[in-house]
Amino acid sequence: MEPASGLTRGLVERLGKASNLAVLTGAGVSQESGVPTFRGEDGLWRECRAEELATWQAFETDPHLVWSWYDYRRQLVADAEPNPAHRAIADLESAFPEFTLMTQNTDGLHSRAGSRAVVELHGSIWRARCTHEPCVNWRNPCELRESPLREIPPHCPACGALLRPDVVWYGEPIPVKAYERSHVVAMNCDAMLVIGTSAIVHPAASLPLVARHSGALVVEINTTYTPISALVDATLLGRAGDIMPELVARLVDVLGPAERPTVGPARKPTLA
Ligand code: APR
Repeated sequence: MEPASGLTRGLVERLGKASNLAVLTGAGVSQESGVPTFRGEDGLWRECRAEELATWQAFETDPHLVWSWYDYRRQLVADAEPNPAHRAIADLESAFPEFTLMTQNTDGLHSRAGSRAVVELHGSIWRARCTHEPCVNWRNPCELRESPLREIPPHCPACGALLRPDVVWYGEPIPVKAYERSHVVAMNCDAMLVIGTSAIVHPAASLPLVARHSGALVVEINTTYTPISALVDATLLGRAGDIMPELVARLVDVLGPAERPTVGPARKPTLA
């Protein structure tokens, strides 16, 4: 395998000096697990674009259609496995005194790869909420792991109202705690890796800029340039599943023995 272009020894050393590393991920990280991205050519489903399905308006108009799309994605993810990028990111967690993974992905693959502290910016497809909020009879949100779903759209077992996926749709704010935490992380990290996101959906897309503005080294990993490429310190062009394991291996080389990442299988998977 060719070394990732731009992954110079100097860059690896600068990353290795960070005591507080942040990672922001998007759909590109799960692409190599067979999960379609949102804006790539593979993002179309029954000729519908994600932007047309992931809205409250679409859900109100046709909950069956929207839940059918989620059921399709849930089944894809249930059959998918974390890929080398997910695993390399999980390996980084133990290598830095402070480490935070923030993801826009709702698929839970980071947790399945062994990442423990995951800030879910856009929720999880494995949870649902009753649309009759506050539903006094049901713990909102609640796990909904059955796949495929027996009932589409699913209904609240307590009050009978429609359930909705516990994800953030277009036009909706991200959960307050995730928002606050991600901004604190962006302001305080020494380095941030931005992996597999088109960097156009805010507020997630502004986190690398907040980090950069606060003096952090920001490195983007993507198969293509994005709107933030000109604003970050480096863009490593290539597949996350190729670059991330290489980056971890190179970090192991430059870090002293005491700081070496505990790379290996000793992980305790947790659910997102
Ligand atoms: N390795 C690295 N990057 C990749 C790979 C790969 N193997 N495959 C695709 N990419 C990149 C694409 O070039 C693109 O920039 O991943 C990015 C995926 O972009 P989007 O599909 O827009 O996904 P994302 O940035 O996560 O979308 C943000 O939008 O629809 C909403 O809520 C949804 O969380 C999602 C948000």
